[in-house]
Amino acid sequence: MKKIIVEGGNPLSGSIEVSGSKNAALPIIFACILTNGVSEIKNLPDIGDVNVALRIISNLGAKVYKEKDITYIDTENLSYSTPEINLVSKIRASTYLIGSCLSRFGECRLMPFGGCSFSHRPIDMHLSACSSLGAVIDGDSISAEYLRGAEIVFKKPSVGATVNAILLAASADGDSLIRGCAIEPHIDSLIDFINSCGGSVRRQKNDIFVSGRRLHGGKITVIGDMIEAGSYLAVGLMCDGRVSVHGCPTEDMASVFKSIENLGAKIDLNGNCITAAMTDRANYFSLTAEPHPGFPTDLQPIFAPLMARFSGGMICDTVWPSRFGYLNALSPFGVRSSIDKNKAKIQKSKIKQGRTSAPDLRGGMACLLCALLSKGKSEIFSADLILRGYENLEEKLNSLGAKIKIENIT
Ligand code: UD1
Repeated sequence: MKKIIVEGGNPLSGSIEVSGSKNAALPIIFACILTNGVSEIKNLPDIGDVNVALRIISNLGAKVYKEKDITYIDTENLSYSTPEINLVSKIRASTYLIGSCLSRFGECRLMPFGGCSFSHRPIDMHLSACSSLGAVIDGDSISAEYLRGAEIVFKKPSVGATVNAILLAASADGDSLIRGCAIEPHIDSLIDFINSCGGSVRRQKNDIFVSGRRLHGGKITVIGDMIEAGSYLAVGLMCDGRVSVHGCPTEDMASVFKSIENLGAKIDLNGNCITAAMTDRANYFSLTAEPHPGFPTDLQPIFAPLMARFSGGMICDTVWPSRFGYLNALSPFGVRSSIDKNKAKIQKSKIKQGRTSAPDLRGGMACLLCALLSKGKSEIFSADLILRGYENLEEKLNSLGAKIKIENIT
């Protein structure tokens, strides 16, 4: 286990190069299971979740090696074995084993899939996609002699269920139409990767058309991580600085820019570089997290400390309506808040140094924002949860003028 020690209170400014997107990288890694050959993935972030995903597919027989910025995944000799529970239970993306293993091996097991525990995370839509293509669910095992293209209609946009439906349909027999899909940028990255493997997948708004194909190895460059980009912009705003983030998928971040401006900051866009700095503080600021292209649910915890420092306000999350458990972890830093039905009311608060445990990945980053602002020493335990999603966190923050140290405590 790790902890982060922060000597806070320094103004943070400078420039950050954003890493590859966690949520784009993970579906691509699991999609390699469908392919027979060697895939080349550029810009794969070196973060906890990616390393666990690579270990899971290595245990199925994939050869993973890296040369310079390219990770090669060779999937010629795979065979099914039940993945290790201690790996599967660490990351939410292990749910992608459902689609990929059913497609490649005709079998998979339902396991205690992990990830941030900010809410009950159902998989009913993933399972109904399996059934639609002809798989049979029997207790915790799912099997399919073969998968047959079909129409799938989702009741709401789900990133995970959309990924699994694509993985199931991509090498099924015949055509599929998946309706009501999530349209996050990482869905389009997965489609690009599968098409580079010889697949036939096309998205039109919330509908995805798939013709099943035999897949060979493919090539992709993982897109920049908009959640990481938004996190560092928030760090700069919190600490009275001016942070520029390079390599951002700016075209996907309109809702994030709008919220930053609503808070009273100015955004400068220059190609794929974003700079943000506070100008006029808002008196009140509210935020609603929604499926893409709305404000991302993964950034709402990270904007709560900004709200507490500058304006007070209200947060509503339509994707995960109860994703507010992180507020308990912010209270040692002086953040005052209350829950009113499905909204969090954040009061303007005097933020101070504190000690807390990261409740999950993004909630942990929210704690770090408070620690960076507050004069004196703060400590954040369970820091491994934050490192699941942020590459070179210590180096990047210290390059902006922060004083943080990540230590092993066991
Ligand atoms: C993914 C992301 C996570 C992000 C979330 C929402 C990964 C590894 N994780 O999680 O970082 O917070 O998208 O953008 O990419 N739902 C159902 N039934 C299902 C599946 C989902 O009702 O079978 C509901 C959920 O309760 C939730 C909504 O759909 O209300 C969206 O969830 P979903 O997009 O599936 O989230 P994840 O894919 O788990």
